[in-house]
Amino acid sequence: MTQLTIPKIVGHRGARGLAPENTLPGILAAATHGVTYFEVDAKLTSDGEVIIMHDATLERTTTGTGEVAKTSFADIRKVDAGKPFPEQGVVQIPTLVELLDLLIEKNWGINIEIKPCKGRERETAAAVCAIVEKHWPKDREPPLLSSFSMESLDEAKKVAPHLPRGYLCEEFTPGWQQVVAGLECATLNLNTNKLGPADLEAAKATGLPILVWTVNDPARASELLAAGVTAVITDRPDIVRA
Ligand code: G3P
Ligand code: MG
Repeated sequence: MTQLTIPKIVGHRGARGLAPENTLPGILAAATHGVTYFEVDAKLTSDGEVIIMHDATLERTTTGTGEVAKTSFADIRKVDAGKPFPEQGVVQIPTLVELLDLLIEKNWGINIEIKPCKGRERETAAAVCAIVEKHWPKDREPPLLSSFSMESLDEAKKVAPHLPRGYLCEEFTPGWQQVVAGLECATLNLNTNKLGPADLEAAKATGLPILVWTVNDPARASELLAAGVTAVITDRPDIVRA
């Protein structure tokens, strides 16, 4: 299994608290605060383009309306993804390929959260894997592929078994260790709000790197890192780094 070298601070959707989430300017904004590893969300347009986008619908983060799964890539490109930060100007929703190109150029790392629209769990994972296989340099540490969808992780394991997988969950449910072992996950990506001391000990017992999201309080970040967590995924790298 690839040895991952994930830094202690990972930018959540770029730097969601500072700049439009899941956009290239958002990645660059996080980088101005020393971030070199980023978590983003990937899903498919109606016509099968892998884009970087969190929600299943366009309204919250963009000037568009409707479901991503029913919107073509051409129409996705017409919306402004800078809606939460209008003072920062108009921003496009990037494709996964465009994002990877930026990261490769800068020598930065990535956790791609496979965030399928309902019913497209396997198709989305397969499309993400195909792009990573084609675009990511073989001599670089590979992207970490995480998902709440065990179907997506299973598909990723089938089509690109060598790409590391992250077990992403809201909270542990009975039998989680067997699922992690079966999917041969390389990391645990856990929710700070549901992570009590006993959960953390159980997570550490697996020996896997632990990433905790979304940690915007510097005191909580210090506590987690001191307790053996590998990385915190944050919207606010500016304050958490300090
Ligand atoms: O991957 C960690 C975190 O991003 C999971 O939750 O909803 O922010 O994608 P969400
Ligand atoms: Mg995410």
